[in-house]
Amino acid sequence: MTEQLESIVEQLDPLRLRAVQQLGPINTSSALDEWNRRYLGRNRGELTKLYGLIPALPKEERRVIGQRINAVKNELELLLNEKREALRQREPVQALEQERIDVTLPGRMQRPGYMHPVSRTILEITQVFQKMGFWIVQGPEVETDYYNFRALNFPTDHPARDMQDSFWIVPGEILLRTQTSPMQMRIMQNMLPPVRAVVPGRVFREEDIDATHEAVFHQVEGLLIDEQCTMADLKGCLERFAREMFGANIRTRFRGSYFPFTEPSAEMDVNCTVCDGAGCPTCKYTGWVELLGAGMVDPRVLRGAGYDPGRYRGFAFGVGVERVAMAKYVVPDVRLFSQNDLRLLRQF
Ligand code: FA5
Repeated sequence: MTEQLESIVEQLDPLRLRAVQQLGPINTSSALDEWNRRYLGRNRGELTKLYGLIPALPKEERRVIGQRINAVKNELELLLNEKREALRQREPVQALEQERIDVTLPGRMQRPGYMHPVSRTILEITQVFQKMGFWIVQGPEVETDYYNFRALNFPTDHPARDMQDSFWIVPGEILLRTQTSPMQMRIMQNMLPPVRAVVPGRVFREEDIDATHEAVFHQVEGLLIDEQCTMADLKGCLERFAREMFGANIRTRFRGSYFPFTEPSAEMDVNCTVCDGAGCPTCKYTGWVELLGAGMVDPRVLRGAGYDPGRYRGFAFGVGVERVAMAKYVVPDVRLFSQNDLRLLRQF
């Protein structure tokens, strides 16, 4: 017997034994496929490799060893087929068992979703004004310099532009709106008086962020144009809004202010609900929180929209939604609204 033959014979029996032992516990088709590849695989199968050694043997030894390897191969193929058939019969049963549903298990509770406090506040504010006869209108968040500033009487170098440091998209031309007021002109250009509209929306400013200032926040703009309309109507409208939002006990105060597109202009504060007016970081120890800016629409703006300022007058206001939400739900820091902390959100 040549050395090569001896080597093949020495490998054959242990290989057969290993294959048979490993086949026993196999119970999935994928493991069986793997076993098939390992021992009988056409290129790299361990048994197949032994066939590759045959041509190096002397002629008379080739036939003998060829028959022995064939015998092992036939045996392994027989076992493989038997196993495959057994698995084929068992697998559907196994699959059914794994898929079985225990209908006696308790169900998983689905928590209902929550409306974000800012969305909820927008809804509440607009509902108050709807009851007073205002319609709801939406406008674009990306605005032109014309609607955001120039149409509202802010010349290019007007110092009031500093109050609203802007995120420009095309410097000097297109920006993220810094206020909802650009909708004043858009509404007036599209309809004849009388006008009663509120515009909820998101606004953007490059702000120093603190407990009452965010860079992205929401406003609700209001615009009323009619033949009869005074500052007293504006005050009455906003005081009614405050009472409807916060209840009869809320205290309001108006302070004179300046906006280039209203004359006269004012700001309205409500008493700080976090400290009840005693002074705290939220109200910067003043006892008051600024909710909105407002005023009588400047005649130059009316004229720019094509309205006759001799005939029509109007008022406008811009409510800070987060400030209303802070005062109404006693939230001490505006940043809490954008942090998505479920401990806060679940309370709504
Ligand atoms: C304006 O934006 C004017 N467009 C309001 C206006 C409309 C005046 C119509 C006259 C007529 P102001 O910058 O003050 O004004 O903002 C209005 C309100 O938005 C403020 O009173 C405040 O409640 C809120 N606000 C302003 N800046 C921020 C900020 N950074 N974060 C959160 N709320 C803010």
